[in-house]
Amino acid sequence: MMDMRAFFKTHRLLLAPMAGVSDEAFRTLCREQGADVTYTEMVSAKGLSYANEKTRHLLRLAPGEDQVAVQLFGHEPDTMASQAAWIEDEMGASLAYLDINMGCPARKIVSKGDGSALMKDPDLAVSIVRAVCAAVSHPVTVKFRRGWAEGVETAPAFARRMEDAGAAALAVHGRYAEQLYRGSAEWDAIARVKQAVSVPVVGNGDVKRGADAVAITERTGCDAVMIARAAEGNPWVFAQAKAALAGEAEPEAPGVEERIALARRHARLLSEREGKNIVRMRKHAMWYMAGIPGAAAAREKINACVSVEDFDVVFDELVACAREHAAGV
Ligand SMILES: Cc1cc2nc3c(=O)[nH]c(=O)nc-3n(C[C@H](O)[C@H](O)[C@H](O)COP(=O)(O)O)c2cc1C
Repeated sequence: MMDMRAFFKTHRLLLAPMAGVSDEAFRTLCREQGADVTYTEMVSAKGLSYANEKTRHLLRLAPGEDQVAVQLFGHEPDTMASQAAWIEDEMGASLAYLDINMGCPARKIVSKGDGSALMKDPDLAVSIVRAVCAAVSHPVTVKFRRGWAEGVETAPAFARRMEDAGAAALAVHGRYAEQLYRGSAEWDAIARVKQAVSVPVVGNGDVKRGADAVAITERTGCDAVMIARAAEGNPWVFAQAKAALAGEAEPEAPGVEERIALARRHARLLSEREGKNIVRMRKHAMWYMAGIPGAAAAREKINACVSVEDFDVVFDELVACAREHAAGV
């Protein structure tokens, strides 16, 4: 099996799993900018076991795409194991490793015993990891949080149990589940996990710019860095983080035209996947536009866009507006 310690020496920057965001179009753009590994959106093991088309759609890859980690969620060891095995067969060489979601705090997930609810039931979490590890030949990793209840840091002890159960690496988001996204991520909690286990640890939470990738690595000793929200509308964060980690000057933030050009490509890549209707692009477009002159006025128009052509019209207007702005008109 792949040695994850060696793997993360050359694959330091990870695009996080983000439901509704991390599809193959977005993953492709992040890889181009320097993400070494990308995660799929979380995929329901139960949904896959029913051959649910919408669930299977989440596993689609871009042409030639590789270094993809598939993230499964669920709480039934047998279903998780059988679906992990199916994914391994299906994805072949594109699959980097399998990840198990034990960090999602969303009510509709935890109410079924999935996601971060598993941090409250470490015995079941262990059974899941054991079952999945026995069913696949790829490495199995676990992503979890600082703990469930605010103020009760269970992550280091939980991490040891995941390691004993066979997890090949662990990704830790330094917030409690009950915290959702409030407050800030506690990187020292990641450091305590790192000290508690010998498998590689991925640091996650509030890495907002290139320099933060260096800061979280120095603060926690983590083996790799995972970025989620800062990459929304901003795949360039990976190029910046890559330069910062190499001790080089970070490339400058892209200007308006470069941002819009990437937004256009994003729309096209999405359209290759989704066909004519790419309403999914709306939120991405908002993110690419954030802070651009004229963006606030364009929001409503974006919310009416359906096709690549619709988006192009708004993008054209934004570029024209930015040019006028730059010319001081
Ligand atoms: C829109 C969105 C969707 C997310 N979906 C998932 C998911 O499917 N699986 C998961 O493990 N974490 C998910 N997360 C959590 C992120 O992977 C990450 O742990 C968290 O956002 C903290 O990192 P950040 O500060 O870089 O955003 C999601 C976060 C966001 C904002």
